[in-house]
Amino acid sequence: MEEKSSSIYPKEKDKMYALLVKQMEGLMEAENHWLAAFSNASAVLKGALEEVNWVGFYVMNQGSLLLGPFQGNIACVRIAVGSGVCGGAVQKDEILMIDNVHDFEGHIPCDCASNAEIVLPIHLNGEVIAVLDIDSPQFKRFDLKDKNGLESLVKMLENKINFNGITG
Ligand code: SME
Repeated sequence: MEEKSSSIYPKEKDKMYALLVKQMEGLMEAENHWLAAFSNASAVLKGALEEVNWVGFYVMNQGSLLLGPFQGNIACVRIAVGSGVCGGAVQKDEILMIDNVHDFEGHIPCDCASNAEIVLPIHLNGEVIAVLDIDSPQFKRFDLKDKNGLESLVKMLENKINFNGITG
């Protein structure tokens, strides 16, 4: 895994996520279209988070999840609601934080390096319209601080993104 020693982000997770949210807010002042925002958010997260091999978004499209902007290896393009960690997060409308994906029944393996995963639903008018999915090769990679930090990022995105045209 590449070293992030020259990272501009603080080591403490809460400070790191606070900076990351501010950075994304700044980027979205110029353009808040969902495609640009998701694209830059995946790059910002991939650059900031240690021990992470895949970061990206799936968007709801014709009743299932369609692959959106991401950073990492090629990934499965469509996921049914209720299927895998992503589809499970949509069905339950809750954040799923998985310490060991090999123990998660129905997990959809995309990158064989992935051992832990967190998926956060993203809402528009109370409906789940997308998910943020982050994979890590490190078992138990995500903790409550990651969950809270990523949730604050998602809430900011929900409030500031222009979601026009996202539902196909
Ligand atoms: N593992 C996910 C599939 C998407 S990839 O991790 C990029 C899942 O079980 O839904």
